[in-house]
Amino acid sequence: MVRRLIIGVSGASGAPLAVDLLWELQQRHPEIETHLVVSRGGALTLQQETGMTLADLKQLASICYPIDSIGAAIASGSFKTMGMIVVPCSMKTVAGIVSGYSENLLLRAADVCLKERRKLVLVARESPLSTVHLRNLYEASQLGAVILPPVPAWYNHPQTAQDITRQTVCRILSQFDLETPREWTGL
Ligand SMILES: Cc1cc2nc3c(=O)[nH]c(=O)nc-3n(C[C@H](O)[C@H](O)[C@H](O)COP(=O)(O)O)c2cc1C
Repeated sequence: MVRRLIIGVSGASGAPLAVDLLWELQQRHPEIETHLVVSRGGALTLQQETGMTLADLKQLASICYPIDSIGAAIASGSFKTMGMIVVPCSMKTVAGIVSGYSENLLLRAADVCLKERRKLVLVARESPLSTVHLRNLYEASQLGAVILPPVPAWYNHPQTAQDITRQTVCRILSQFDLETPREWTGL
């Protein structure tokens, strides 16, 4: 059976993470079908942070859905997937997920992952975090989501922004037991 992974891109800073993740999946795991949905904020930050358009990002995914396409396959639990990664994940999208307010396809797909008990990884990004953000992130974790903020590690001496991005992408892929180019082998 085909393995499908949903990638949601929302309007937090960190669009290069989505680009790199999709690129890794396309290059190293072409057997996985990627189902992409990008919020309006996600398209805006993509342009701002990478100079890429939504049309460019689509090239890295198997299938891309319009954000308002609430009748799309990924809106239904009967459409089997490995789960979903929201990368980057804005605080607004976290709030939508924990409250079950599925007013767009990205939120609905995340809601479906929770109800079907499928893996949901939130690459949640904001700084500083308010009490509202922290409360919502805590609730998302209680609901079963994995909170994976794009926090760099310094012990492997990143030299470039790309190194830092790659580090987080490896951690995301590990959540789905996917081979990662680099893993820590101890001091
Ligand atoms: C350049 C830019 C960077 C942003 N960075 C963040 C961020 O890091 N975290 C966040 O929660 N919101 C951030 N925002 C605000 C969100 O984009 C905004 O709240 C938006 O409504 C989120 O909607 P969405 O979750 O549907 O994409 C940023 C907005 C812009 C324009």
